[in-house]
Amino acid sequence: MSIALTDPGSAGLGAVVTGFDLESPAAEDCEALRHAFRASPTLCIRNGTATPESFLRLAGIFGTPQRELMGVLRDTDYPEISLIERRQGISTATGKAATFGGQWHTDDSYMAVPCAATMLYGEVVPPKGGDTSFTNMHLAYEALPDETKTRIARLKAVHMYQARRNRSPVPERSAEEEARTPPVTHPLVRTHPETGRKALYINPNRIDRIADLPLADGDALLDKLIEHATQPAFVHVHAWQPDDIVIWDNRCTMHKASPHQGDHPRRLLRILIEGTVPV
Ligand code: SIN
Repeated sequence: MSIALTDPGSAGLGAVVTGFDLESPAAEDCEALRHAFRASPTLCIRNGTATPESFLRLAGIFGTPQRELMGVLRDTDYPEISLIERRQGISTATGKAATFGGQWHTDDSYMAVPCAATMLYGEVVPPKGGDTSFTNMHLAYEALPDETKTRIARLKAVHMYQARRNRSPVPERSAEEEARTPPVTHPLVRTHPETGRKALYINPNRIDRIADLPLADGDALLDKLIEHATQPAFVHVHAWQPDDIVIWDNRCTMHKASPHQGDHPRRLLRILIEGTVPV
């Protein structure tokens, strides 16, 4: 085996892999990567410059890359690769100064079958700032008081693209894109399909309400769960180095991007890995 792997860092997240051959990876190294990703639901692969082809090949080790649904983000040459870009503080996806992905969220929970994982490749990263923070939703669930676990065990949340509670700008969508994603209902607690471990499944951006609860009660519960899940004990911050590739598991983490100062561009390539219906 030619790769080296650090232990996970804070909140059991953020193990770093070096020595991985992006061009012709050995089968045992691919297996070691998959294993490392189950142990550390965010993983940084630090191996020098990737091409779109080698980035897609790496993604294939973890699952099936999915076509980006949102036309505004899609790379025209590689439909499974999307661009997350900020220039002079402006997100190219929203045209707004607010940081794209700047609020805690998990990717694509407004879809009936949300992606399992997301990969970002740091093509251009600012020298300071622009970090990505992650919170471990297994740990957050396990630390809940028993009475809360019982209360939320069977509750479901209604997720949608433009949710009532969302406070951040989202890219505009075509009528066709909108029609493809009607509101969906997902459990508040989901079981990881590969490890069987439970995790809180909430998305402050996309949850509109808790099904079967009066709005005010559902909002109070959500506020409490979000505050709980994002406390520093469950959080790991990734400070980007050029060419870092970070993969995270959307089934058991939330993440958010931080702003950075000045005019330095920030350009990340993204691949989403197909998931399964949350249960
Ligand atoms: C995202 O939320 O998908 C983007 C994260 C980042 O830009 O750090």
